[in-house]
Amino acid sequence: MYTLIDGKAIAAEMRSEIKRGVDGFKAERNREIGLAVVLVGENPASKIYVKNKIKACEEVGIKSYAYYLPENAPQSAVEELVSGLASDDNIDGILVQLPLPAHLDSVKVLSFIPTDKDVDGFSVENIGKLAMGEKCLVACTPNGVMKMLEYYGVELTGKRAVVVGRSNIVGKPMALLLLNANATVTVCHSKTRDLKAECLKAEVLVAAIGKEKFITADMVKEGAVVIDVGMNRDENGKLCGDVDFETVKDKCSYITPVPGGVGPMTITMLMYNTLQSALFRR
Ligand code: GUN
Repeated sequence: MYTLIDGKAIAAEMRSEIKRGVDGFKAERNREIGLAVVLVGENPASKIYVKNKIKACEEVGIKSYAYYLPENAPQSAVEELVSGLASDDNIDGILVQLPLPAHLDSVKVLSFIPTDKDVDGFSVENIGKLAMGEKCLVACTPNGVMKMLEYYGVELTGKRAVVVGRSNIVGKPMALLLLNANATVTVCHSKTRDLKAECLKAEVLVAAIGKEKFITADMVKEGAVVIDVGMNRDENGKLCGDVDFETVKDKCSYITPVPGGVGPMTITMLMYNTLQSALFRR
């Protein structure tokens, strides 16, 4: 029998805790906490994410500042906006929604976000600190996964963890966090030889691939903890993850659903990082 990891419930609990932190900050410092959200263009998924991030800000009492630039905005306009926010004392966190339109250099844009306002944890310095096991702002989705595992008391020391996907946003920081938690970590990707054999070794399996129902029951070890980071639509347009939940669930000790698993945690960790940034910003 498997246990369903209820991301929605953990997120709700964390959000009320964060709200208390935000209220305390405001009372003590006599100012708002500000999060700037930058969206360039019309990507429909990005628009929904940004809307949900702004809604979460309202819920915990963080003041959001939304900036919408047109699809054809030149590199210089985006850089100017972000450098203005970098030096604005009312802004504690800056988030540039990715992906940016293809003509823009994302790495260069992100380089204008100061490390201590980098609430996505995407900066070279924050990733570097994470790799060195130092305190830093950590990418929201993988940090949310760690909170879920912690909440359910999943022990990681000495465990075989397999991360499928090597993106800068999820796969790589996820692997670093698991490694810092003393797991034995394997990172798999599209060029991995015999992916099934690698996945079958996983006591903790994190799927961050971006392909609907990619992880099937024959790839999962009996008793595994399965974390599904995917957010896809199935053939009927229904939201689904990277894991074929219906066939995989009975092999698991713990499994996250989609929706209601990792998703609600990602935005919660953004609120958490914004509060951290306000508290500890240099
Ligand atoms: N696009 C997909 N996920 C994310 C995220 O966590 N942060 C930002 N900024 N863009 C994303």
